[in-house]
Amino acid sequence: MNQSSRSQLFDNWAKNYDNSITSDKDGFPFAGYERILEQVVSLAEVKPNTRILDLGIGTGNLAERFVNKGCNVHGLDFSAEMLTQTKAKLPQVNLVQANLLDDWTKELQTPFDRVVSAYVFHEFNLETKIRLLQQISAHCLSTSGFILVADIAFPDVAIRTAASQHWQWDEDEYYWAADEAITACEQAGLQVAYQQISSCGGVFTFTSKGAG
Ligand SMILES: C[S@@+](CC[C@H](N)C(=O)[O-])C[C@H]1O[C@@H](n2cnc3c(N)ncnc32)[C@H](O)[C@@H]1O
Repeated sequence: MNQSSRSQLFDNWAKNYDNSITSDKDGFPFAGYERILEQVVSLAEVKPNTRILDLGIGTGNLAERFVNKGCNVHGLDFSAEMLTQTKAKLPQVNLVQANLLDDWTKELQTPFDRVVSAYVFHEFNLETKIRLLQQISAHCLSTSGFILVADIAFPDVAIRTAASQHWQWDEDEYYWAADEAITACEQAGLQVAYQQISSCGGVFTFTSKGAG
């Protein structure tokens, strides 16, 4: 599917997105959704005015948690309809419409203390995920900044393969296997920690090697 059809798919989903998470919260792929977002907030260790960038902000469910903590929150998404939902809920968030596969860093006034993202990176294959993480590390983070990615993910390739046979998911999506991702990210100069939170979801923390 091309990018324009992909953003159209999210435009069409925007008004019903929050309902579909609530009705699907114990199944695939949103099992543990609330706990997973809470874990991102906990790992972020923010204070009032911490600068946050939420990539693929959607309807603002993760961003809202950071707004409630007094953070200075920015969000990016390629779906105009998703951004409309967030704007109505969270008028104080600075929003940018851009595609993560384009040169989006120019659209933002950086650096950020935390770059966060939930349920978005599975849009991209592992090579593209790593390129994006490197781009964020190089252009978006403050000196002590780091990246938190929550997503559909499994502890290892074998468990992901078993899950794919069980759930028979969309082959256009690239769910994480933590073992292969950690090896590839470390080879690419990123330090990684991973926590499995639900049967199909977890949170990665990425820092550049050498960052304190
Ligand atoms: C499944 S939703 C997740 C929304 C929100 N982060 C959450 O946790 O509920 C994925 C979001 O990522 C956005 N997205 C997907 N691919 C994107 C891309 N290439 N560039 C920018 N946004 C993208 C979609 O428009 C959508 O809002």
